[in-house]
Amino acid sequence: MKKNVKEAEGKLGILMPGLGAVATTLIAGVAAINKGFSKPIGSVAQLGHIRLGKRTDNRNPLIKDFVPLAKLTDIVFGGWDVYADNVYEAASKAKVIEQHQLDAVRETLEAIQPMKAVFDRNFVKNLDGNHIKTGLSRRELVEAVRADIRGFIADNGLDRVVIVWCGSTEKYIESDDLFSSLAKLEAALDQDDQRIPPSMIYCYAALLEGVPYVNGAPNLTCDVPAIVELATQNRVAIAGKDFKTGQTLMKTIVAPGLQARALGVEGWFSTNILGNRDGLVLDDPENFKTKEVSKLSVLEEILDADKNPELYGDLYHKVRINYYPPHGDNKESWDNIDIFGWMGYKMQIKINFLCRDSILAAPIVLDLALFIDLAQRADMYGIQEWLSFYLKSPQTAPGLPAEHDIFKQLMKLQNTLRHIMGEDLITHLGLDYYQDLVESMQ
Ligand SMILES: NC(=O)c1ccc[n+]([C@@H]2O[C@H](COP(=O)([O-])OP(=O)(O)OC[C@H]3O[C@@H](n4cnc5c(N)ncnc54)[C@H](O)[C@@H]3O)[C@@H](O)[C@H]2O)c1
Repeated sequence: MKKNVKEAEGKLGILMPGLGAVATTLIAGVAAINKGFSKPIGSVAQLGHIRLGKRTDNRNPLIKDFVPLAKLTDIVFGGWDVYADNVYEAASKAKVIEQHQLDAVRETLEAIQPMKAVFDRNFVKNLDGNHIKTGLSRRELVEAVRADIRGFIADNGLDRVVIVWCGSTEKYIESDDLFSSLAKLEAALDQDDQRIPPSMIYCYAALLEGVPYVNGAPNLTCDVPAIVELATQNRVAIAGKDFKTGQTLMKTIVAPGLQARALGVEGWFSTNILGNRDGLVLDDPENFKTKEVSKLSVLEEILDADKNPELYGDLYHKVRINYYPPHGDNKESWDNIDIFGWMGYKMQIKINFLCRDSILAAPIVLDLALFIDLAQRADMYGIQEWLSFYLKSPQTAPGLPAEHDIFKQLMKLQNTLRHIMGEDLITHLGLDYYQDLVESMQ
């Protein structure tokens, strides 16, 4: 049954807490695409096709022609940052995109000034920006963010807004009693409880405004009962967490292949060097811990030791991130994978990925923003697990193990789009083709 999806009419605002490397790379890219200088490479929403009906039907439209998504020319960007640089200045400092390409869209980028951030250095020690909302309690900060969102909508004549967190990774915290219900979180806000992280303040404010929220970092933010309760109560879509880009992207491509062939894995050592501001923040052990937990979860689920102790029972998985300024945003990662096959014979796989972190992340932010806006228009609220294709540590319903296999995640994403548009879901069974043939021959 086709869902009653509202058309993507008017302008869509994409607000990002954190106008750093990832966010500015996205904004500059969309500006370049809109001027005809570039193409949305890496965006499944823009360049991906989707098969509809039988294989013999030959219906494979572009996803953007199949589901009603906001047009790139209808997007207005904005955000908050702890540094006052406009997007042109921030993108120039991030050094992801070459200066001549930034200069070609300079005016568009210069016009985007960050709003003052909700920031608490207790959650991110390695940043010292002072473009911050000061002297306000946690509750007053919520109201200030709500006012920012409303002002952004009014100033730009927007029809809809989504928020995608592109800010730094906060220090590791676990979900405790404080976040266990909406009533408890609200009481804690009223008491100005300093354990509430800034990211949760943005998220809480967004949901009060009916604005969908995507968590691009491994922060706890919306992955707590209190926020899920609010999202359900206010019928707003949420998704998280942590963009799936370089090394983890490779892991969720390679590991399902090894698992599918019932090959054993006894060790997976992953190390990285990166030198951008994200790397600087992650150089603090408390912030690295948040990222480490997110990165480790992937293999445990795909290479399930409980189901296959003979293949994965001894798996040793280690992840390291090293801050190395000379490499900037050009992260280099090495994976050493110790596998074994028939009769236990050992083999090795080495992956050396010389990637560009923000180049991989920017189209993910775009797709997440476009799809969560679609979900909201289709009245799909609460956790949007079908977007886990883009995320390292997908948020799921309580008690439901996350699916990390990228191919199953893609199938889930495509089937959700088919479901929204009332098309048949595709199981890849295919027996019917042969049955029809057999019957026609009788
Ligand atoms: N680049 C990738 O491949 C990738 C992949 C997965 C996740 N991420 C996550 O995405 C986020 C952004 O990555 P990046 O490379 O752009 O980092 P970045 O350091 O260049 O940008 C983050 C920006 O957030 C700002 N910030 C920090 N706290 C803030 C707050 N409370 N409010 C507003 N702004 C705040 C910082 O000042 C900084 O400018 C990080 O959390 C990173 O871990 C990135």
